[in-house]
This record gives sequence, structure tokens and C-alpha cells, in this order.
Amino acid sequence: MDATIVVLGGDGIGPEIVHATRRVLDAVALRHGHTLRYDEQLIGGAAIDATGQPLPAATVEACRRADAVLLGAVGGPKWDDPRAPVRPEQGLLGIRKALGLYANLRPVKVYPALADASPLKAERLVGVDLLVVRELTGGIYFGQPRLRERREDGSERAVDTLEYTDGEIRRVVRLACQLARQRRGLVTSVDKANVLESSRLWRQVAIEVAAEYPDVKLEHQLVDSAAMRLVTHPAGFDVIVTENMFGDILTDEAAVIGGSLGLLPSASTGEGRRGLYEPIHGSAPDIAGKGVANPLGTMLSAALLLRYSLGLEAEARAIETAVERAINEGARTRDLGGTLDTTAMTDAVLARLG
Ligand code: NAD
Ligand code: IPM
Ligand code: MN
Repeated sequence: MDATIVVLGGDGIGPEIVHATRRVLDAVALRHGHTLRYDEQLIGGAAIDATGQPLPAATVEACRRADAVLLGAVGGPKWDDPRAPVRPEQGLLGIRKALGLYANLRPVKVYPALADASPLKAERLVGVDLLVVRELTGGIYFGQPRLRERREDGSERAVDTLEYTDGEIRRVVRLACQLARQRRGLVTSVDKANVLESSRLWRQVAIEVAAEYPDVKLEHQLVDSAAMRLVTHPAGFDVIVTENMFGDILTDEAAVIGGSLGLLPSASTGEGRRGLYEPIHGSAPDIAGKGVANPLGTMLSAALLLRYSLGLEAEARAIETAVERAINEGARTRDLGGTLDTTAMTDAVLARLG
């Protein structure tokens, strides 16, 4: 297979973990006789510095031409002035929207060998295997904002809008139901229907959609108690489907279950096969440039890229198995309580590629 992958390193640890992941992708491609071409493009703070814009038109065009996109992370203190006219994060939101990637799949699995790295009691980790389907191109991230305005009395006001259409909800819940069918058949729709009108629409549409999937059981849970249940009884979840910002917050929380934010991958998908793949964590400014970031979340995202965008199941599994073996055999970066740096962890995975 011949494929083109746009690589968006971004900021902070982004370029470091993407570089590590390319080494693994190259090794897999070589073993299986594939040609992967990388097209490096700018996004985020790096793009602001070079062009003034967080998402240059050339980046969008390259992504549209590519088979898939691999992204590190964007953002950092350099661009964090609340009064700045442009922000790195606008680049990420912009590319998700431009490619129509309305669903962000965030699988959460627990490696038993990492039980010590989790702050949860070991018995709570047994049987944890959940998938968060986060709506990605709507909700409060994309509703019309009202920029900061100074009012007559001297106070300031800013407004964000949480907005959904039934169509936006329907397509993401449908995907969640389809994915649940291939798993344990349970969908938990997480909302705030006791307060928010958009959540009441969400709940109504979820019920309508689930009626099309009699083999799938739908349950509803309010986001606040879902947050609690995630760390008290995480094994009770199969597929969680939820609003953009709820999904953002709940998945950082879910990362705690498995022991580190650095482990969790994600796949963003829309109508076609082209997707965007990125770890769920950010640019980690506190460790950027030190060469110590955990590259596993990005490598596991690359595995999802091979599976979903390129249809290379055996190759995807090769990466996942090598990561699991490395963990089982004691490879640990600092976030997991170990001493390996990014390069050594990457070598540990490469050495175990089947
Ligand atoms: P963060 O995820 O960057 O970091 C949170 C903590 O987790 C830090 O202590 C960090 O060192 C640690 N961490 C994260 N990834 C790690 C890894 N791979 N290995 C080891 N440790 C890791 O969150 P933050 O500090 O709140 O945000 C920093 C910047 O990242 C912000 O500008 C934010 O907007 C951006 N961000 C970007 C993305 C993205 O590009 N997808 C996601 C989240 C945050
Ligand atoms: C994520 C990040 C992004 C989000 C930010 C950086 C825009 O936190 O991918 O989880 O909130 O979607
Ligand atoms: Mn996030």
C-alpha cells in the first residue's frame, strides 16, 4: 500500500512524540511492504510564528489531499495571552471542522502491568475497557460566541453558546450505537438534561436513534455523576457518547484510570475514511524540549490510523502488541514512574515489533 500521511507536529512535546511515532510507523511499513509518505505541515503556535495564522491554507489543502493526518499537540505559554487575537488551539478546532471530523473516538484500556501507576485501587481496574465517543465539531466549542465587551457600568462580559441541531446529535449517536454493537452493546449517553435545553434535545435524539438498534442498550447519565462513576466503577461503562466539552473533560479524567494521560490515543472521524489521529493530551509545556515525553499515546493513535484510515488491521495490531509487550516487560517513562526517555521508550517498542 502507498499512502500519504500529513504530519502536524505542532508545539511543545508535539514534534518529539510525532518523531518517535514515525520511527515506529516506518518500521511497520518496512516489514509489511508499504510505502508511507509524510507531508509535514504547520499548525498551532508554530504556524502562528511562521505565518501569523494557526491554520494556514496550505495545511488544510495538504490534509484534504492526504489519506490520514497524524497530529502531536498544539499550544503553550508563548501564545497564551488572553488578549491575543489568534490562538494555537484555533488551528486544531479549524482542521477538525474543515475535515468534517464530527466524532472523536477515545478508547480507554487498562494494562494490568500498570496497576501500580494508577491511583485507583487495583480491584476498580478489573475489566475496564471503555470507548468515549466525543462529539467534535459542535456544542459549546462551535456555537456563536460574543466577544468580550465592556458594558456601561464598566463591567466586562463574554458569551459562549452551547448549540446542537438534531442532525449533529443523530450522526454521532448512530456511530456510538454501531461501535457498541461490535463491543458489549451498551451505550451510555452523558448529558446535563436536568439543566440544559441542548441536553434535552440530545437525550430525545439518543432515544430515537437507539430505537433503530434493538440489540443495543441505551442508558442516560448526567455528566456530574458520570464523572464520579468513571473513577468509582469504570468497568461498568462500554461506550460513552457525549457533547464536545463533556467528552474533553471526562477523557482526561478517564486517563487517570490507566495510569497516565500520556497513554491515551484518539481517532477523529467523519464521513469518509480520512481521519485525524492524535493523543488526547496536550503540548505538556512543563516537559517540552527535555526528550522525556511518553510517546505511547501517539503510537497508539498511529495504530488507529492504520486500522481506520488505511484498513491495515494486522499492522495496527503489531503496534498495539509491541506497546503492550514493552509495558509488560517493564518499560516505563517518567509519567509511569520509570526512567526511560522518549527515545529509549521508542526503542523498547521497536524491539518488540512482530
Ligand atoms: P497537557 O495535557 O499538555 O499536560 C498536563 C500534564 O500531563 C502535564 O503535567 C504534562 O507534563 C503531562 N503530560 C501530558 N502529556 C504527556 C506525555 N505524553 N508524557 C508525559 N507527560 C505528559 O495539558 P495542559 O498543561 O493543560 O495544556 C498545555 C497546552 O496544551 C495548552 O496550550 C493546551 O491548550 C494544549 N492542549 C493541546 C491539546 C492538543 O493539541 N490536542 C490537547 C490538550 C491541551
Ligand atoms: C483535546 C484538547 C483540545 C480540545 C484543545 C487543545 C482545543 O484539549 O484535544 O482534548 O479541547 O478539544
Ligand atoms: Mn482535552
